[in-house]
Amino acid sequence: MREKKNKLSVGAQNLLSIPSLLGTEFLSKAQIEQVLKLSFLFKKCLKQNQAVPQTLAGKTVILLFFEPSTRTRSSFELAAKRLGGNTLVLTKEGSSAEKGETLVDTAKTVQAMQPDLLVLRHPSAGSPFHLDQILDIPIVNAGDGFHEHPTQALLDLMTIQEFKGKIEGLKVLIVGDIAHSRVARSNIYALKKMGAEVSVCGPPTLLPPKVEQMGVEVHYELEKAVKDKDVIMTLRIQFERLNPGQSPSRGEYSKFYGISESVLKTAKADVLIMHPGPVNRGVEISPEVADGSRSVILNQVGNGVIVRMAVLHLLTGNELLKGWL
Ligand code: CP
Repeated sequence: MREKKNKLSVGAQNLLSIPSLLGTEFLSKAQIEQVLKLSFLFKKCLKQNQAVPQTLAGKTVILLFFEPSTRTRSSFELAAKRLGGNTLVLTKEGSSAEKGETLVDTAKTVQAMQPDLLVLRHPSAGSPFHLDQILDIPIVNAGDGFHEHPTQALLDLMTIQEFKGKIEGLKVLIVGDIAHSRVARSNIYALKKMGAEVSVCGPPTLLPPKVEQMGVEVHYELEKAVKDKDVIMTLRIQFERLNPGQSPSRGEYSKFYGISESVLKTAKADVLIMHPGPVNRGVEISPEVADGSRSVILNQVGNGVIVRMAVLHLLTGNELLKGWL
């Protein structure tokens, strides 16, 4: 029988001093800075074609993805492999979840195979928290329902830091379906902790009730909202999560909330355009803006691998890089 470890003491031993990465709500500014610092060190190492320290050698990362993903899943897999680790990917399709096995039974089953860390994407908000209570290995939340997507926010912060040289004091506008967006929630927590001024803009039906209580400024008119912003982060309209009538039509949405060259006429010349992907081209962002000179969408994807390397390294507690930090 596997002995249940004290997760807090395991967490205290890892380099981030937390047992699991469940959300940016639970990260301090210092912990966010630690992830960013290591990410930039890894990036420098990769840019200079230096060998990346194999800090995950002999370790196994399980990727449990019960919702579709291109970026998050593949970047976690690449991140683990670049650090010398092994990965095992399980999706709902083709696993015994299709035969009715519960998430908890699935997670306990894969833990019995002795992995070192579990990455979970799941449609139910709170599912990584639930597994964190039950399993004795670190859990990384790779997106839970409408709730949080912490590694997306960390890679967004890294991209802002890279292109703007700072985060503190920047004016960041998040546009779109804030109510159903785990990306928006994780970014609001993380950006505010790092000293950015955060505003949101979207149709009233797609803004959460009392959103201003998160410490953000609320706008309904896009042209006015973009005016003084350093960063505009537009979000995917999650048509699969919306009830009929909750969202304007694609055409209406694009007309009032789509980021186009015409809208950007009122924005700063050096505004950074971000999108977590996947993009509904021509709905929340025009192809010209998505592929234009101010867009850093593909830089976000590249930084995703690097930030996830940092997170995996910090949570698995290998001291090989302690001198770097
Ligand atoms: N941004 C993001 O989470 O993308 P995927 O759903 O492709 O992982």
